[in-house]
Amino acid sequence: MTTSLIMVLNGPNLNLLGTREPAVYGTGTLDELETLCAETAEGLGVAIDFRQSNLEGELITWVQEARTNAAALIINPAGYSHTSIALMDAVSALDIPVIEVHLSNIHKRESFRHLSYVSLAADGVICGLGFAGYRLALIALSDILEEDQ
Ligand code: DQA
Repeated sequence: MTTSLIMVLNGPNLNLLGTREPAVYGTGTLDELETLCAETAEGLGVAIDFRQSNLEGELITWVQEARTNAAALIINPAGYSHTSIALMDAVSALDIPVIEVHLSNIHKRESFRHLSYVSLAADGVICGLGFAGYRLALIALSDILEEDQ
């Protein structure tokens, strides 16, 4: 049996985690988030490919890559959630389960954050739970992948 690969994509400014608005996003760094995801994945018997980019086109290219290279996708599109129809289109073209994650509760914040275009294409959305949201997304996707086998 081959190990399922879950791609974990992080959008703009998430490289600044730990120092960027810690009251909103917490004090944990992106490296610490990657370690948490890697440890969670190991416990679940799945593999992850964890990436971050500040560039919309690069994120779209990576989502397209997931069409053939990944069994599932976790994406925190960050600011592009609220602006990018192109990123939503790339997610819509996927035939694998997708969970969108936000560290903060976007519905509790400014009204321009209440709409995420990517949510219109994702299978599930988790927001407001900080790093735990990624852990829960990995658990849910590993369950879904197991059921599909
Ligand atoms: C975010 C929420 C977005 O509104 C914001 O632009 C981000 C991070 C989150 O994880 O809470 O950069 O996606």
